[in-house]
Amino acid sequence: TPIDRIRNFSIIAHIDHGKSTLADRLIQATGGLSAREMTEQVLDNMDLEKERGITIKAQTVRLTYKAKDGLDYTLNLMDTPGHVDFAYEVSRSLAACEGSLLVVDASQGVEAQTLANVYQAIEAGHEIVPILNKVDLPAAEPEKVKQQIEDVIGLDASDAVMISAKTGLNIEGVLEALVTRLPPPKGDPDAPLKALVVDSWYDQYLGVVILIRVKDGRIRRGQKVRMMARGSAHSVEQVGVFTPRMVAVDDLGPGEMGYITAAIKTVADVAVGDTIIDDRNPAAEPLPGFKPSIPVVWCGLYPVDADDFEKLRESLAKLRLNDASFHYEAETSAALGFGFRCGFLGLLHLEIIQERLQREFDLDLIATAPSVVYRVHRTSGEVEELHNPADMPDPSQIDHIEEPWIKATIMVPDDYLGAILTLCSERRGQQVDLTYVGNRAMAVYRLPLNEVVFDFYDRLKSVSRGYASFDYQMDGYAESDLVRISILVNGDLVDALSFIAHRSQAERRGRSICEKLKDLIPRQLFKIAIQAAIGGRVIARETIGALSKDVTAKCYGGDISRKRKLLEKQKEGKKRMRQFGKVEIPQSAFLAALKMD
Ligand code: GTP
Repeated sequence: TPIDRIRNFSIIAHIDHGKSTLADRLIQATGGLSAREMTEQVLDNMDLEKERGITIKAQTVRLTYKAKDGLDYTLNLMDTPGHVDFAYEVSRSLAACEGSLLVVDASQGVEAQTLANVYQAIEAGHEIVPILNKVDLPAAEPEKVKQQIEDVIGLDASDAVMISAKTGLNIEGVLEALVTRLPPPKGDPDAPLKALVVDSWYDQYLGVVILIRVKDGRIRRGQKVRMMARGSAHSVEQVGVFTPRMVAVDDLGPGEMGYITAAIKTVADVAVGDTIIDDRNPAAEPLPGFKPSIPVVWCGLYPVDADDFEKLRESLAKLRLNDASFHYEAETSAALGFGFRCGFLGLLHLEIIQERLQREFDLDLIATAPSVVYRVHRTSGEVEELHNPADMPDPSQIDHIEEPWIKATIMVPDDYLGAILTLCSERRGQQVDLTYVGNRAMAVYRLPLNEVVFDFYDRLKSVSRGYASFDYQMDGYAESDLVRISILVNGDLVDALSFIAHRSQAERRGRSICEKLKDLIPRQLFKIAIQAAIGGRVIARETIGALSKDVTAKCYGGDISRKRKLLEKQKEGKKRMRQFGKVEIPQSAFLAALKMD
């Protein structure tokens, strides 16, 4: 395709506003797949994504569209993830495109995340076409939402495209808007090769597949290329595009998107944002790269069964093959034995990895309290990063500690604003701004990340009945009065439950954990004391009474098969328990104990 007939675009939308449905319609309308191949939501190709209804990996699809002007256009759709944890993936998808479709549910209006992504797109220099989706719904208020787009985002929405992705209404209008309203890419076919690494993943048969966007020059099969930042040289084995099926092509030129393979073994060898250049005719300057993804939430993952340690190591290595944003290193805990300290982009990312480990690799795991990355300034003048409460130095050696803050934008209907403001102030939030658009409020807060990682999303959703939307960005570090709270069960320290909190929150949280553990730890033959302490000072205490003799008596006597069943059951149960001194704590107690209400 000549470069002036290429359009590269991404779709920006809040979760559930209909991005995947629209993408499927575009693929269908341009004949990328036959009806039989058309499964629901082709872009969300991981099981887990389907179940949770979220898009994780950025993907691209090449569409061929004959426009009303009679010419064939190549439309490259770059899918972007919708959740805040994956904001960094959004930025790389945007860098590979010239324009965005802004999809807004006409019955819901603009949400906080949409806002953040639109600003990123505007920053990336995108032309933005507003699309009002779900106009088939009786509750749709397209005129009101248009006004909102103009008021909140400052975009002209007068020629917004009104569609129903579900019924297929006006999909043609979207395709025409892409052709007539987005600019074609710019690039020089005769200049030395420069291609941007947008993403990479591991494929069982092909090895590492690299998603690229060519800026200048051409990339072809057999070409010797070099990763500019990494310095490694590779021979290109395959060049292709997604339709969304993988289809091999001879080469890719300026403005084009597609993939290459080059016998690369792990995704860790491919830096996203790197520039691919021709080894024989190297370009001098790299393309502007992306911000690297830095883990902001860490927790320990331990096998319930110590024999599974090697299996866990192998499984983590496999996951890492496909997800370079996930980090892990071996660690040991006095209570839990051998395990790994793992770093994630956010809480959702943590949950997804944990779930995949349990489901795909059949591992029973214990996760310790999630922690953010603190900066500890020692009296000696040294500064270190701390993401494991167990590594906190003795208070006598600490001059001060800094914690990370975020700037959060929350959008919520008026009725729930009070509850949201209370939640934010409980979490030590500082209000930056509060504005109204119609009956929706937009609150901007600075919040300590530490207060958000535990269960902020859950709380936000529950106090607003699901109506609040939330987005955040990191907003620097600030000194804070932080303490480590230890949990003791019958006098034994359960290091996996230790956590760091602001002094003002320590007692409330310590008490809440003790109360929860009281319900989560089954009664045993003796009395169990549960304590929360800062250093040597106990700040909360609960006691679990001993089992009465009558209850245990039931286990004796009776018929033999029932007894055997009981024993089997106990053995099963054992696997999911950890022994602390004399006390057994069920696996489920760990994360549950740390969730606040
Ligand atoms: P994520 O993948 O989570 O980002 O969500 P998404 O934005 O891709 O939303 P998706 O396409 O999965 O649509 C969300 C829900 O809205 C689904 O139940 C769709 O069937 C429904 N939906 C999408 N478009 C329309 C529409 O035009 N009209 C109506 N009534 N429902 C729609």
